[in-house]
Amino acid sequence: MVELTATRLIGVDELGTASVAVVATAHGDLAVGLSEGKPFALSNRCRHLFAALGNGRVAEDGCLECPWHGARYDVNTGKMTRGPQGAFRPLAGVVKGTAGAVALARYPVELRDGAIWLVG
Ligand code: FES
Repeated sequence: MVELTATRLIGVDELGTASVAVVATAHGDLAVGLSEGKPFALSNRCRHLFAALGNGRVAEDGCLECPWHGARYDVNTGKMTRGPQGAFRPLAGVVKGTAGAVALARYPVELRDGAIWLVG
């Protein structure tokens, strides 16, 4: 029988209203949070200009939103669903189709005892 290891990443009550945080792990810093009641852990670097995604927020559509220019990512696939906004908005489609075409790395997590755990 193979025994799987699990590492506690963060308590749900530590996430705050943004529903995401930066957590240091053996894989480096990850953006760890909850979206629509489900935990996720993604690479922490935005594909646009490398902002720390864990300092962003989970938006009303359930996507992880970058704190700098508002690009959004599907937490289930790691894919960019919306390019950067504000001054970068005219380039949003180009960024989404180039840098955003490569999905963020995803890591397996589960919700247990009021916390998010990295498993496997
Ligand atoms: S750095 Fe994330 S949208 Fe610009």
